[in-house]
Amino acid sequence: MRPTDGDAWALVQRHIFPGKTDPTSFYERKRWAMLFSEMLEEPHQVVVEIGSGWGLGTRCMANAPGIGVAIGVDADAVGSLVDAPRVGRPPEFVQANVEGTLPFRPGSVDCMIAPEVYEHFYHPALFFQEAHRVLRPGGRLILTTPNTESIALMVLRRLPRRWAQRMLTREGDAKKHLHPEFFGDLSTGGPHGHRVEGASLMEMERMAAQYGFRQVRATTWGLPFAGPAWEKMPRPMREFLLGRFHALAVGLRHIFVVWKRDDEPVKSRAA
Ligand SMILES: C[S@@+](CC[C@H](N)C(=O)[O-])C[C@H]1O[C@@H](n2cnc3c(N)ncnc32)[C@H](O)[C@@H]1O
Repeated sequence: MRPTDGDAWALVQRHIFPGKTDPTSFYERKRWAMLFSEMLEEPHQVVVEIGSGWGLGTRCMANAPGIGVAIGVDADAVGSLVDAPRVGRPPEFVQANVEGTLPFRPGSVDCMIAPEVYEHFYHPALFFQEAHRVLRPGGRLILTTPNTESIALMVLRRLPRRWAQRMLTREGDAKKHLHPEFFGDLSTGGPHGHRVEGASLMEMERMAAQYGFRQVRATTWGLPFAGPAWEKMPRPMREFLLGRFHALAVGLRHIFVVWKRDDEPVKSRAA
């Protein structure tokens, strides 16, 4: 157990669906606790969430121990902030396309989290260059995205395309732009559509080096079953299993990486 796990868990219990025990709420708390535990490990006075969506994570982050300011950035203001619980210290939100100029001074951010947003980018290079500019030397970028080398995807890729399409769920607003690799619609859906299926841990490591970072942590997380399957399980067993959702370094549905910004400017290293 990491020294910061207890603090992160206490934080999410207070701010992420407090009191709710259904599998989705518990899973969401586990997901955010994983991110926040990492964030709390090192300096985190100024923190930014990239692709903050409806603002739940940023709101929670604003109330973490040691935080000076927490800012959420998202291209979409319409979907953001609506219905987000408003308890504790308020965060700040900025509407901006993060594949352009980030609205922060060079070296001003200690830690940036980018949960489940990389797969939406048209021009990831623009984001990574900006992340390098605004993070201080040694500052961290904590990123999650679907794992292109998950065991489930590796199996689905070997099936006839039509079978794979039938097995992948796409119903509902939150899911209708998933799996572009399998449905061939990479450029639809505005900021909410997936442009790529995600990335592998090795691709991320290569990109880290390319954009002036070091990948200092890399693992996978996520579980193969949908909510209704978990509902059928007794709660203690369900929470025991859901609680171990990031134990495997390879093969699960999403990747979790931590990049540390190098001191050198990117241009001089590339030369
Ligand atoms: C799947 S949601 C993730 C929300 C939240 N981070 C989470 O983990 O629950 C992705 C978010 O990224 C935003 N997004 C996608 N592309 C973006 C871009 N280029 N600039 C800013 N926000 C973007 C979308 O509007 C959406 O709110």
